[in-house]
Amino acid sequence: MPATFVIFGASGDLTSRKLIPALYKLFCKKRLRDGLRVVGFSRSPYSHQQWRSELAESTARFAGEDFDPDVWQQFESELFYHAGNIGEPADFERLRDFLAGIEKGVASPRVYYMATAPNFYEAAVDQLGRNGFADETDAPRRVVIEKPFGFDLASAKQLNHAIHRTFQEHQVYRIDHYLGKETVQNLLVLRFANTIFEPVWNRNYIDHVQITVAEEVDVGKRAGYYDKAGVMRDMFQNHLLQLLMISAMEPPVRYEADAIRNEKVKVLHAVRRLTAEDVAVDTLRGRYDGYTKSKDIAADSRTATFAAVKLWIDNWRWQGVPFYLRSGKAMSCRTTQIVIQFREPPQRLFATERNNLCDANRLIIQVQPAEGIQLHFQTKVPDAGMKLRTTDLNFNYQSEFGKSMPEAYERLLLDALEGDASLFARADEVEAAWRVCDPILKAWQESDQPPLLTYEPSVWGPEESAEWMRSQGREWFDTCPVLA
Ligand SMILES: NC(=O)c1ccc[n+]([C@@H]2O[C@H](COP(=O)([O-])OP(=O)(O)OC[C@H]3O[C@@H](n4cnc5c(N)ncnc54)[C@H](OP(=O)(O)O)[C@@H]3O)[C@@H](O)[C@H]2O)c1
Repeated sequence: MPATFVIFGASGDLTSRKLIPALYKLFCKKRLRDGLRVVGFSRSPYSHQQWRSELAESTARFAGEDFDPDVWQQFESELFYHAGNIGEPADFERLRDFLAGIEKGVASPRVYYMATAPNFYEAAVDQLGRNGFADETDAPRRVVIEKPFGFDLASAKQLNHAIHRTFQEHQVYRIDHYLGKETVQNLLVLRFANTIFEPVWNRNYIDHVQITVAEEVDVGKRAGYYDKAGVMRDMFQNHLLQLLMISAMEPPVRYEADAIRNEKVKVLHAVRRLTAEDVAVDTLRGRYDGYTKSKDIAADSRTATFAAVKLWIDNWRWQGVPFYLRSGKAMSCRTTQIVIQFREPPQRLFATERNNLCDANRLIIQVQPAEGIQLHFQTKVPDAGMKLRTTDLNFNYQSEFGKSMPEAYERLLLDALEGDASLFARADEVEAAWRVCDPILKAWQESDQPPLLTYEPSVWGPEESAEWMRSQGREWFDTCPVLA
């Protein structure tokens, strides 16, 4: 039985840039086992054909060489547009009749995708409930909620509560597209399908972990939204904490949604809460020079576009191992990487040029732009006495498997259609993530400590960030993508 995929926010950027290209590629790869109808809902007054034509053009642009006009023709015949306003209850009644029409009265599995501004999530879900859209008596019904999920802990709890008035937790898919990336999933494989990593994946061998999400772009057209959110809400609460959980979690008892999510959420529960005093010394925040020049940003804005945070995970595996998380806009380059910095050997047998941690082993998991893994280790330079040099072993997904990497949304949309929630956040998980971020945001706002630093665009954040690491006997791994 074909499923129906209903997109709220059908005329928006996410729909044209990510959702439709991902569904189209799944269609091309014949992954949509039982077929699929896509229904778009937003206020713009398109006809079916106008919406299809716009999406043909944008999909050709975003899907690149994967776009085949003949295949698109088949795909678009199942694209439908239904104009409506989330604020108008009558529009949902019309949508209900419209869906019944295209489904020919046969109860079909449905996914409702919230690709609209977050302030509409609650109203849209409420209307879905009132019109019986969540009723699973005859077929599964799921809702996908985009990020950001809440603005702080209180609003995230309220949103969870509001969604649970209509949908049960097993029907709710909170998306973080980082989890759809092959390398992030491969981190689970690396850790739990190999025996050589797990014995060293702990406080006995690891000095610290660095997780960096650096963006080369500045806030650009998103200035209005970004100024209200800032780096902590935009990056830490979701992407960085997701990467932290996957890096630090214990092996799940089974590879299934709740077993995985149970282990992930335990990591967040073990993260030591930061007091205002901790925030002043264990976090840094900055803003690139020129940020307030954008017309959508208030001249007296105090929004941070860069932050670095040191977190401790109080459990047996990680006691005493700091996790350094940092993210920024207008940085040197676009890269997302997890650096596992191992300890130095207990005895120094060989003289190296730099006697410090940089000579110790390092495992780099590069999430983007290229996906892959690099292991750093010491080797002897040939014919140079006992001179040592750091060298590396590389694993690059693209060159290893020789085909283009799937977009994260492909995997996640397919999982949502097939009812696998393993790579989606659970209600308690998003709330636990806010419990980590809220005290930092509160301290920044109330005590204005640490100070908001300024950095030149196209560097690795404020200079003080490097000094902060050096004062702890460590160094940031400031290398633009290690894998091309
Ligand atoms: N764009 C991305 O790459 C991206 C990435 C990650 C997450 N997200 C999240 O995805 C969501 C959508 O982002 P976006 O960039 O696509 O935003 P957008 O381009 O502004 O699109 C918003 C959509 O909502 C519709 N809409 C607005 N008011 C409506 C109403 N009253 N009733 C029905 N539809 C309404 C708009 O269409 P009409 O004006 O025609 O009604 C439009 O289709 C946001 O929560 C964002 O945070 C986006």
